[in-house]
Amino acid sequence: MIFRQLFEASSSTFTYLLACEEQGIAALIDPVLETVGRDLDVIRELGLTLNYTIDTHVHADHLTSATKLKALTDCKIVYPKQADLPCADLHIEEGKVFNIGSIALHPLFTPGHTDHHYSYLLDQGVQKRVFTGDALLIDACGRTDFQSGDAGQLFDSIQTKLFSLPGETLVYPAHDYSGRHVSSIAQEMARNPRLGNDIPKEEFVQIMNSLDLPYPRKIDFAVPGNEACGICPPNVPDYLRSPCDIHDQG
Ligand SMILES: [Fe+2]
Repeated sequence: MIFRQLFEASSSTFTYLLACEEQGIAALIDPVLETVGRDLDVIRELGLTLNYTIDTHVHADHLTSATKLKALTDCKIVYPKQADLPCADLHIEEGKVFNIGSIALHPLFTPGHTDHHYSYLLDQGVQKRVFTGDALLIDACGRTDFQSGDAGQLFDSIQTKLFSLPGETLVYPAHDYSGRHVSSIAQEMARNPRLGNDIPKEEFVQIMNSLDLPYPRKIDFAVPGNEACGICPPNVPDYLRSPCDIHDQG
């Protein structure tokens, strides 16, 4: 298997490349519109074909490059079933393994940041990785105060679906804002300041409800754009529009 962790700096988003070497098939988890050219270069350099884009949820902080990558590579757009997006070609569902060539991705329904959010478990025996999207971050978690967020639901998702994984499972989040790259389930259970150390649910909900975070900068165009699988809506500000042109990169 080929694995790459890629980073988009303006939204601090991690995109993950997973590829089956034997079949030359690749997937990108949470690809970002601004980095289409970079992501395609990596795929080309590795001699791979992009078969899938897989989003963990409808993002509010960046536009997905799913539609642009589909236009450029003919890949399939994959979204959680509960997101119910007509633009998706395939729908992820818990209990149904998603195969990328010989790689088996196990979808875990982890709502709370949004009501349709998924994490993806890659279990290769001694090496386990979970892509936690905006559910579980390193020493943090996704916010629950917009879209369809629900702090109590996020607590339940993390406790039952993620903290039940083996402690050595590596945690790869969709974002990090402090230059960190990876954590583990054991580390988050021990020291995550919002969720670790057996914090009671009521305390977590109170923490989340009192964060008083700023209004997300891109949410007004990112959510409608991502509900269309990454087609730029008319309200994208001019200074952010250049990645919207289908021909400008790739
Ligand atoms: Fe998000």
